[in-house]
Amino acid sequence: MLFANYVLNDSFKEVVCANRIEYFFASKMHISSVTLHSFKNKLLGEISMKIVALFPESVAGEDNQLLNTERAIGLKPFLEEKGHEFVILTDNEADLDKHLADMDIVISAPFYSAYMTKERIEKAPNLKLVITAGVGSDHVDLQAASEHNIGVVEVTGSNTISVAEHAVMDLLILLRNYEEGHRQAKDGEWNLSKVGNHVHELQIKTIGIFGFGRIGQLVAERLAPFNVTIQHYDPINQKDNEHSTFVNFDELVSTSDAVTIHAPLTPETDNLFDYDVLSRMKVGSYLVNTARGKIVNTNDLVELLNAKHIQGYAGDVWYPQPAPADHPWRTMPRNGMTVHYSGMTLEAQARIEEGVKDILTRFFNNEPFQDKDIIVDAGKISSKSYTAK
Ligand SMILES: NC(=O)c1ccc[n+]([C@@H]2O[C@H](COP(=O)([O-])OP(=O)(O)OC[C@H]3O[C@@H](n4cnc5c(N)ncnc54)[C@H](O)[C@@H]3O)[C@@H](O)[C@H]2O)c1
Repeated sequence: MLFANYVLNDSFKEVVCANRIEYFFASKMHISSVTLHSFKNKLLGEISMKIVALFPESVAGEDNQLLNTERAIGLKPFLEEKGHEFVILTDNEADLDKHLADMDIVISAPFYSAYMTKERIEKAPNLKLVITAGVGSDHVDLQAASEHNIGVVEVTGSNTISVAEHAVMDLLILLRNYEEGHRQAKDGEWNLSKVGNHVHELQIKTIGIFGFGRIGQLVAERLAPFNVTIQHYDPINQKDNEHSTFVNFDELVSTSDAVTIHAPLTPETDNLFDYDVLSRMKVGSYLVNTARGKIVNTNDLVELLNAKHIQGYAGDVWYPQPAPADHPWRTMPRNGMTVHYSGMTLEAQARIEEGVKDILTRFFNNEPFQDKDIIVDAGKISSKSYTAK
């Protein structure tokens, strides 16, 4: 009936205004936003869309970057030659709100996220699709997106090897006390007792992997040749594999010499590594987190590092992001923190570009997305990783 009205009214403007209403009803009928978009196209012909993307500012001379305002992963020519309007933003808070009223698609990378909160989603009546240029869509209120039948898709697998390599590097950095050794080298010091007091081999240690999906499994595969014992906890993937043994969460936390986090940020994992869990880790153990900063409680971690209960912490993810200059993780003892870039290798950026273009092409051609990429569709969170309990 809604569609018949469009034809009778024959007004493009009314179609766009009624967009949110129709997507709402479609979600109640579990019709996906893509199917609905396809049906509309057949009735109305191709519609020009407004696509908004957030990228970090490009820097002169840093020409290899694809994920920045200058290159914008090649989307400017790609979208404009199809007749769409493409707007590139650099400031999430200041710029995004100006475009909520009439944007159809929003694109951002987890390294530099356009935070699509419930409030913003409610103010974006035309929004049909949120694309994550990478992996990890927790910057979107997935429940609100479901309720408004907005599709959420990401480029699953695009940077998993990059992150797995970074996590292995972090484990080595921590166990080998690299940060202190490097600091002395830079600062003109030569204090071997100080650096040697906490230097360990990786071999024979027990490494716990929290979240045994794509990245977690790649980490296990890469760690295995170091002759370590590997164990994992994952509510869905409870099977042992050739490299790792499934253990329950309490055992993972209390028996690992180092834990590395590879689960998404969900209501279940939000703030999970708080004082209680961190203090159940072995005295002198290490924690690596390349998943999401909010999984670890900011101040509880600092307290347990200061107390030397946790020997070291490394990772690239923070809360909030970009991390403020006075974020305590920048200065806490024995940290191997970096900015959020583990999944931003140039190889991964190229795969992200290819993946985002594939998602957009499928959307414009009314073809289904690849199953692996879908986080929210047809009014529900369909990714098992985001609903695991
Ligand atoms: N730092 C970066 O640049 C970067 C890049 C890519 C991904 N990531 C993060 O890494 C996460 C994992 O990526 P992936 O590709 O391996 O995803 P994935 O979906 O393949 O694997 C995630 C795994 O976590 C498990 N999981 C879900 N809830 C859990 C819980 N409560 N406890 C333990 N395990 C749980 C899932 O069952 C799944 O097996 C992403 O969601 C993202 O947040 C970070």
